Amino acid sequence: MIVPRIELAPGLTVSKMGFGGMALTGVYGQTDPDEALATLHATVDAGVRFIDTADVYGTPRPGTDGPAGTNEELIAQLLGVRRDEVQIATKFGITGEVGERNSTRGDRAYVKQACEASLRRLGTDVIDLYYMHRRELTRPIAETVAAMAELVTEGKVRHLGLSEVTAAELRDAAAVHPIAAVQSEWSIWSRDVEASVVPAAREVGAGFVPYSPLGRGFLTGTLRRDNLRSTMLAGQPRFDEHFDANVRVVEMIRSVAQEMDATPAQIALAWLYAKGTELGIPVVPIPGTRSAARVKENAVAATLTLTAGQVAQLDSAAALVQGGRNLTFNGADWISAGRE
Ligand SMILES: NC(=O)c1ccc[n+]([C@@H]2O[C@H](COP(=O)([O-])OP(=O)(O)OC[C@H]3O[C@@H](n4cnc5c(N)ncnc54)[C@H](OP(=O)(O)O)[C@@H]3O)[C@@H](O)[C@H]2O)c1
Repeated sequence: MIVPRIELAPGLTVSKMGFGGMALTGVYGQTDPDEALATLHATVDAGVRFIDTADVYGTPRPGTDGPAGTNEELIAQLLGVRRDEVQIATKFGITGEVGERNSTRGDRAYVKQACEASLRRLGTDVIDLYYMHRRELTRPIAETVAAMAELVTEGKVRHLGLSEVTAAELRDAAAVHPIAAVQSEWSIWSRDVEASVVPAAREVGAGFVPYSPLGRGFLTGTLRRDNLRSTMLAGQPRFDEHFDANVRVVEMIRSVAQEMDATPAQIALAWLYAKGTELGIPVVPIPGTRSAARVKENAVAATLTLTAGQVAQLDSAAALVQGGRNLTFNGADWISAGRE
C-alpha cells in the first residue's frame, strides 16, 4: 500500500498518516525495546514517514531532573539507519511531571537547552518540526516563539509547531514566525478544537496534527476496563465510571466500519480526514501503537473516503460522550479548552 503525501504547511510535505511514538516507552501498557524498534521499522516500511515524539516521553532516570528523553533515544536507533526516510517531530516545554501547572518553561535559555538536548538524544543535526508542547502560562507565547524562531535561523529546526494552544495564542505566535502545525487532541470523541482552534489554524496557514486520534485506544473497541488498571487511563472518567456509556460511541463507529468493510480504528482515522476536507485544513493524524500489524491497519485509513452520511452519523456520536477529554490529573489550563 502506498500512503499518500500531503502538504501540511508551506514547505512541509509529509506522509498523510503519521505515527505517535509515545506509547513505545510505556504509558498504556508494557513495552519491549526490541519490539518497539521493530514497530518503528515497520512504520517506515508501511510508508508512514512522519514520526512524533517529545523530550518528556519515556521513563525518567532515577536521580535526574527534567524530561525523560528515553522515547527520543529509542527513535534515535531508527534515525541512525533511516534518517533520510523519516521526518521527525519532537517537543519541548514540559520540564517534569506531565500535568503540573508549574512544570512548563518557555524562556529563551530553556528553549535553546531543550533543543540541544533533543538533537543530541535523537542523534540528528536537524529537527523537521519542533513543537512547544505546553506553554508557560505566565510568559507571553510570543517570547517563546521568538526563541524557537532563532532555532530555525540557526538551522537546527526546519518548522515550528504548537500543541494545545488556544486560537488567540496561535494568532499571537503566528505573528512572530510561521507556524506549520498545531498538534492538539482531536477525534470523534474530542471535538472542542473545531470551534475556534481549527479555524485559527486554517487562517494562519498551519496544518493540523490530531493527537490521540483513536481516543487513546477507546475508539478502536479493543479496550477492556479491567486491562487499564496499570495504565495512566485507570480512574479517568471517560475510561472508568463512563466506560459503559461511552461504548455506545464505539458501537456507532463499528456500524460504519461494517458498511465499509474496515476496522473501527480505520473509521476513526478516516473521519479526521473527512473533517479536514470539510473544514478546509490539511490533517495528519498520529495514531500510536506498539504493534506492527496495527501500524499497517491504521495506514489504510489514509486511502478511505467516508460518505457524507457516514460522517454525519459519526459526528452525532459526540453527543453520546460522557466525561471531559481533560485527564483528571491535569489542571484545567493543561489543554486549550480549559483556557478558552
Ligand atoms: N501533544 C500532546 O500533548 C500529546 C498528548 C498525547 C499524545 N500525543 C501524541 O499522539 C500520539 C497518539 O496518541 P495516543 O497514543 O495517546 O493515542 P491513540 O493514538 O489515540 O491511541 C493509542 C492506543 O490505541 C491502540 N491502538 C492503536 N492502533 C490500534 C488498532 N488499529 N486497533 C486497536 N488498538 C489500536 C494502542 O494500543 P497498542 O499499543 O496495544 O496497539 C494504544 O494504546 C502519541 O504517541 C503522541 O505522539 C501528543
